[in-house]
Amino acid sequence: MQLKILVFGQSGQVATELAALPDTLCLGRAEADLGDPQACADAIRKHAPTAVINAAAYTAVDKAEEEEVLATTINGHAPGAMAQACAALSVPLVHISTDYVFDGSGTAPWPTEAPTGPLGAYGRSKLVGEEAVRSSGATHAILRTSWVVSAHGNNFVKTMLRLGKERDALTIVADQIGGPTPARAIAAACHAMALQLIKDPDKSGTYHFSGAPDCSWADFARGIFDAAGISCAVTDIPSSDYPTPAARPANSRLDCSTLTDTFGIARPDWGQGLKDILNNLEKTT
Ligand SMILES: NC(=O)c1ccc[n+]([C@@H]2O[C@H](COP(=O)([O-])OP(=O)(O)OC[C@H]3O[C@@H](n4cnc5c(N)ncnc54)[C@H](OP(=O)(O)O)[C@@H]3O)[C@@H](O)[C@H]2O)c1
Repeated sequence: MQLKILVFGQSGQVATELAALPDTLCLGRAEADLGDPQACADAIRKHAPTAVINAAAYTAVDKAEEEEVLATTINGHAPGAMAQACAALSVPLVHISTDYVFDGSGTAPWPTEAPTGPLGAYGRSKLVGEEAVRSSGATHAILRTSWVVSAHGNNFVKTMLRLGKERDALTIVADQIGGPTPARAIAAACHAMALQLIKDPDKSGTYHFSGAPDCSWADFARGIFDAAGISCAVTDIPSSDYPTPAARPANSRLDCSTLTDTFGIARPDWGQGLKDILNNLEKTT
């Protein structure tokens, strides 16, 4: 069978990494706008793929507070339409979700079956997408991840590299804990999961995937400055000293054990991922 893995997303952090993997065909906004869920279903029918990965999303967490209807169409109804189309063609869908579906309470890593309770519009919109995929009847994997970083697009690593060169000292939030996750590792995980789901639909379900070890944003910033050889002092601050329109979960630790048990995929080491990103940036700048 000729493999064709159809990817929604082209310019995003994870989609860019997926484009480099075998047998993928990435669709940008011009080919499939997630603001038009039916267009996404049509694209799946047109391309007749062997598997689908949805790496596109409305990811502007703060702006989503003002644009919840649009965010819900893109993050909720579009994945639902994709899943319906996948069910009709009997092909699997790998859909990426987020730690923001949780309320961030406690300090224990969230198991996949833990009750959800998003704190804001972005998390609510992603939860609508999860539920639509789950109830579609399609073979699927919902992969919740966190704190995505890469050499492409905008992310915490790129921001720290810029600010660290401009300033001697920074104050960074230290009471939010999670796993920084390289987009390249997410892409590899989604790709491997799609191939396994083609052969074994019984692996359908919800999974967690985040970089190890868990840390605070302040610790992550220190790791970035160490790896990049930048001299910039980091002072811990509470989230209350850095107010944002949307609240962030304090506890984003994800229990990734079911992914390892079912798919044989282990948590990536974010320190190694950081080295790869810095090498990649050096080559391209
Ligand atoms: N970033 C994080 O820290 C984070 C954390 C947890 C989970 N996630 C999840 O991980 C997945 C990948 O995130 P990412 O960081 O790779 O995202 P990203 O870099 O922000 O890219 C999002 C992609 O979605 C596309 N997109 C947005 N609206 C669209 C629309 N209406 N139609 C078609 N495409 C549209 C964007 O296209 P344009 O370039 O044309 O705008 C972009 O290619 C998403 O499901 C996200 O929710 C991300």
